Amino acid sequence: MSTPPSPSSRPPVISAGMVLVDHLTPPIPRLPRAGELIAVDELPLNIGGGAANTSMALGRLGVPVSVSARIGDDAFGRFIVESLRSGGVGTEFITTDPKLPTSQTLIVNVQGEDRRFIHTLGANRGYVAADMDEAISTPPKVLHIGYFLILPQLDGAELARRFDRVRKAGGHTVLDVVTPGEGNYVEPLKQVLPHTDVFKPNTDEAALILGEHDPIRQARAFREMGARRVVITMGDGGLVSLSDENEVRMGAFPVPFVDGTGGGDAFNAGYIVGLLEGKSEMECLTLASAVGASCVREVGATPGVFRRHEADEFLARHEIPIERIQRV
Ligand SMILES: Nc1ncnc2c1ncn2[C@@H]1O[C@H](COP(=O)(O)OP(=O)(O)OP(=O)(O)O)[C@@H](O)[C@H]1O
Ligand SMILES: [Mg+2]
Repeated sequence: MSTPPSPSSRPPVISAGMVLVDHLTPPIPRLPRAGELIAVDELPLNIGGGAANTSMALGRLGVPVSVSARIGDDAFGRFIVESLRSGGVGTEFITTDPKLPTSQTLIVNVQGEDRRFIHTLGANRGYVAADMDEAISTPPKVLHIGYFLILPQLDGAELARRFDRVRKAGGHTVLDVVTPGEGNYVEPLKQVLPHTDVFKPNTDEAALILGEHDPIRQARAFREMGARRVVITMGDGGLVSLSDENEVRMGAFPVPFVDGTGGGDAFNAGYIVGLLEGKSEMECLTLASAVGASCVREVGATPGVFRRHEADEFLARHEIPIERIQRV
């Protein structure tokens, strides 16, 4: 979208993958009947997708970051770029697909019912691993993928090659997923996980991938596929995290819950800050949990996310339950 910065001014983090816009209704009393109009006070338009949400959260935490993604040549694509820039996020590695529209989700909220989603994959359909080559030509300190498995052209072997390149240069790789229904997700994961430092699915995604519902067994299975650290998150149920060094169950920080959108993406941003600052695995998990919890206090993926000093103040005042897992 603009001239890439010189290598010396490259951001330490590249957040690659899915970007989209969400069209949201506030909670309406019921779905309109055919031909009926229901008036609401506002119909917000938000940006979403793992690459966008995690980069916006990093922006709030004061970390320079650029996004690698695809948008369409339309008003929604321009809205994404504008929103990212206003959040302090670099957009120089976002490319425009001349043929496909920007990815969009229509989110219909009916009072007392689960949200309904209507989605078009749009330009995300064409996102390939080679799209990130310019962004990682100077290897970043952290390459984050949000989200693997939902981007149909993001090939496991090709992504593995980019992860390998970043790691060989001393960087870290962080992988998040979204699983759009049943599918063969194990094969592409087996290609990428041996090159992944932090793998963070939520427990529902892990269950779809593995057919296994126990978070500890889920984490063990992904470790056996080669991931260095596996974090299985469970919303307000906290997480399970396994690595060579640590096997723990961690609770969640108590916060007033408003909207879960983007909690996992904000969690990733907190973890990435920990990696950049050379924090221990336990400190990374604690900071990530605090940032994830901050997100769900407000509507949307970004507005609630802590600034860096707010995260530190919160951590100084709150404790999170940590329990070592007994090895079997
Ligand atoms: N209601 C909550 N209260 C406190 N912490 C939360 C809550 N929801 C999420 N978190 C924190 O964020 C982490 C990740 O949340 P979650 O498991 O919901 O991710 P996710 O399902 O990937 O979210 P999403 O895909 O919507 O971004 C949790 O492990 C927890 O630390
Ligand atoms: Mg998630």
